[in-house]
Amino acid sequence: MSTQNTNQLTITRPDDWHLHLRDGAALEAVVADTARQFARAIIMPNLKPPVTTTEQALAYRGRILAALTKAGGNADAFTPLMTLYLTDNTSAEEIFRAHESGQVYAVKLYPAGATTNSDAGVTDLLGKCAKALEALEKCGMPLLVHGEVTDPSIDVFDREAIFVERVMKPLRRAFPALKVVFEHITTKEGAEYVRDAEGPIAATITPQHMLYNRNAIFQGGVRPHWYCLPILKRETHRLALVEAATSGSPRFFLGTDSAPHARGLKEHACGCAGCYTALHAMELYATAFDAVGRLDKLEGFASHHGPDFYGLPRNTGKLTLVRESYQIPEEVPFGNTSLVPLAAGETLAWRAVV
Ligand code: DOR
Ligand code: ZN
Repeated sequence: MSTQNTNQLTITRPDDWHLHLRDGAALEAVVADTARQFARAIIMPNLKPPVTTTEQALAYRGRILAALTKAGGNADAFTPLMTLYLTDNTSAEEIFRAHESGQVYAVKLYPAGATTNSDAGVTDLLGKCAKALEALEKCGMPLLVHGEVTDPSIDVFDREAIFVERVMKPLRRAFPALKVVFEHITTKEGAEYVRDAEGPIAATITPQHMLYNRNAIFQGGVRPHWYCLPILKRETHRLALVEAATSGSPRFFLGTDSAPHARGLKEHACGCAGCYTALHAMELYATAFDAVGRLDKLEGFASHHGPDFYGLPRNTGKLTLVRESYQIPEEVPFGNTSLVPLAAGETLAWRAVV
């Protein structure tokens, strides 16, 4: 149980169920930020080239822990939960191998062309991936879904709601026992679908989708650091996400989708999608829960519902948040360039004690 008063909150140590860590110098620059606040994180496989095999996932896991040590972090106190990138050619054998490795915890579906490094993604889920989906269902490993249709004729703000009808519902009819995490939901339709659907389904929710609506992208000019995919939606959707995350329902849990891109690639004629939130993730979530008077629901969302859905033990450590003003840095080092965190320069009312 969390202990709580108005100015301090101590919760079971949280996990991040959706994280981009990259590789090489970028990995070294960001991994310690996540390890400071979280005990475990589900690591996205959208590297170049993507992590499609167990062997690649295990090698990447080794690089993550080595980078954490090099960055001065404690590799014994952080567990990367690896994932595979689903392609049209992923075999059932590869899924079973991944599961047996004990280090791969999920498989990620990127519809081809939906987002950063998704070119190798799936072109026809039920047509091309039935064997892999069957294998996942059999071994009880979750399928993590980037839920946007890629049809260029569909408005970018409608791609998630249409995905629910065109892909999510047929997928779950065909594989009713498959564990599915609808990643980074951004709409009322997504939240209501997950809340009401039958069977093993859950969703992650990012801090940016709880704190901002699409106006933030255009506040006084184009604001590339608020651009991510799925894109921020209108206020009615933000309110539905806040309601879902703070409802206490075990189907909703924390996944930052922290996605670092060098400053110059965000502030660009064709800027990359992704918000960097690993630095101050729990401060952002605490702000969002506090804004609706539901700090008492933060622990379930951040620390209980995720492991319960994945069938993993809850963490035994703790994390304390204090009501103290915290100014988000304007930028942080990122290899030989820099990285701009979400809401850079702004002041939050909560600080994680790390
Ligand atoms: O905004 C995003 N950034 N959305 C994604 O789906 C991918 C991510 C990235 O890897 O940069
Ligand atoms: Zn992501």
